[in-house]
Amino acid sequence: MQQRPMTLVEHIEASERRFPEATGAFTVLMQAIGLACKIISREVNQAGLGKLLGLAGRTNVQGEQVARLDEFANDTLVRTLTRSGSVCALGSEELAVPIRLPPAPETGHYAVVFDPLDGSSNIDVAVSVGTIFGVFRRRSPAEGLGGVEDLLQPASSLVAAGYAIYGSSTVFVYSTGLGVHGFTLDPSLGELLLSHENIRVPARGPYYSCNTGYRDRWPEDVARAVSRFEDGSRSLRYVGSLVADAHRTLLRGGIFIYPPDRSKPEGKLRLLYEAAPLAFLFEQAGGRASDGRQRITEKVPAQLHDRTPLVLGGSEDVALYESALAGDAS
Ligand code: AHG
Ligand code: MN
Ligand code: MN
Repeated sequence: MQQRPMTLVEHIEASERRFPEATGAFTVLMQAIGLACKIISREVNQAGLGKLLGLAGRTNVQGEQVARLDEFANDTLVRTLTRSGSVCALGSEELAVPIRLPPAPETGHYAVVFDPLDGSSNIDVAVSVGTIFGVFRRRSPAEGLGGVEDLLQPASSLVAAGYAIYGSSTVFVYSTGLGVHGFTLDPSLGELLLSHENIRVPARGPYYSCNTGYRDRWPEDVARAVSRFEDGSRSLRYVGSLVADAHRTLLRGGIFIYPPDRSKPEGKLRLLYEAAPLAFLFEQAGGRASDGRQRITEKVPAQLHDRTPLVLGGSEDVALYESALAGDAS
């Protein structure tokens, strides 16, 4: 009889059983994140039919127009994670300050950061968007509210990270440090089923992914490093949703670059809830993630919404970019 694929929850429970001291709280937390992504997927896929298209009529702490789906996705994650009893603090792209929670005594050991809806500018034109999340163990004293000190941690301290991409199918990709695994939503079951076991990033890939429309704003070293991929041997693929560009790079290899430029000296992408979770995944999958010079996983955020230049890709492709940026002639 053909084995049906594992569900996300079965996979999480199997990996938690490898930690004898585990209390099951981590499974409850990951289940909550999976549920939130399924709820968001349902709304994203009906956005054109419901009343969730368009702008919410306010700007967020980033100074960006907030889409109705940004708010819906943020509210869904806040409600589901709060109900789980597993978290003491939440940090979100859509929240100026963290949400500090009185965690359940035995289970509230985690702090979660997230970009509830990544690629918002693409929602109204039916292009793939996604959710990005990272899970830290709390650092503040075990009783009482969590706080910003539980969130401002480097990606090397993540206990889990992942994303959901809402595209031609909904795929949930995560790692707890035991490899990177992908689950595809079976809408008829409402289950996320294992579809991409132990994802590995090819060291070198056929694509480069960068918004070359900004070339004139780039510093000289960035222009030189990007041109290293423009010798005709690569195709340019740029969706404009980080999750979509990262997912393709994770599976097919190549390189994604969001560099600094004159108008954005620290780049556009946020360290804590965009770059860090993806960097954790790429390193877990044998790839690399840097800001062009330093590993993303080593960068400690000073503020919740710090930005960073971001380079994601296969080990050889990222090394090629970094050496060109450093001025190596080769
Ligand atoms: P968000 O929708 O969460 O604000 O993220 C948008 C980001 C990211 O998804 C993407 O890589 C980048 O914006 C694209 O920026 P440009 O349009 O400047 O290329
Ligand atoms: Mn984003
Ligand atoms: Mn977003």
